[in-house]
Amino acid sequence: MREVASPAFTVRAPASSANLGPGFDSLGLSLPLFTTLTVTPQAVTEVVPLGPELAGTPADERNYVYQAMLLAAGRAGCGLPPARIEIQTEVPLARGLGSSAAALVAGIVAGNELLGRPLSGAEMLDLAAREEGHPDNVAPALVGGIVVATLDKLGTHHVRLDPPPHLGVTVLIPDFELSTTKARAVLPGEYSRADAVHALSHAALLAAALAQGRMDLLPHAMQDRLHQSWRAPLVPGLSDILEGATGHGALGAALSGAGPTVLCFRDAREETGRLHAFLHGVLEEHGLTGRVLDLPIETGGTVVQRGG
Ligand code: HSE
Repeated sequence: MREVASPAFTVRAPASSANLGPGFDSLGLSLPLFTTLTVTPQAVTEVVPLGPELAGTPADERNYVYQAMLLAAGRAGCGLPPARIEIQTEVPLARGLGSSAAALVAGIVAGNELLGRPLSGAEMLDLAAREEGHPDNVAPALVGGIVVATLDKLGTHHVRLDPPPHLGVTVLIPDFELSTTKARAVLPGEYSRADAVHALSHAALLAAALAQGRMDLLPHAMQDRLHQSWRAPLVPGLSDILEGATGHGALGAALSGAGPTVLCFRDAREETGRLHAFLHGVLEEHGLTGRVLDLPIETGGTVVQRGG
């Protein structure tokens, strides 16, 4: 029998913003900045990171994307066939926009695709959530939209919400990196019952408000006591934005993931000039530089494309 080489395919995984204020490790949304893999089956494995954002990442099997492909193969109980794997990304690294989740999810989906799709979506989500330790970036990266998710020893469970109509996002991405490890190390090991109740009630209200399009509730529902105040010393200007964004056209503001990016919700039908001026002003006041981007919420999740 003549062997036919499997055709090349691409996998595109989006950025994400986790927590959304009180939904620490459990709520997140997907954003249209992408990590893209081009996978071409061939006789030997080659790992090829491309572009300035990935300069300095390993160009061999130690690469995180390749390790994620191996994870998928391990879960499926198979060996991974050799391939050329080109990696490109628009997701800035170590800024709280889920760059590692996009790489992990893209790698797991690519590994699964290369093996003929032995894993279900639920298995891939559980694998990614266990690897990250929390599901709030990997779930939106995999399924898109806004996601409420839990991870425990029984598995990873999630509900995906379509974004409410006209809910837009503005992100302030400062020009400095903050490692998730460092931003988790500053958090307390224990919280009081009052703080636990505050977190539960606000995260639940936020999820319900997003599900029903109750934009009027966002400023109140996005209050957090679990992580943002502890992280504020690592993110100059964060407190100013959390206090002032709603006075400058935002519907609510939160630290994006572990930071340093800050996310603002806004009505996508309204002008963003006032909000941009406010965010740039905060950066300037703290002697920092950065980018401000208006983005929709990405709904497509991770996509595999073959041919054409
Ligand atoms: N929920 C996580 C955190 C997201 O805030 O630490 C970053 O991986």
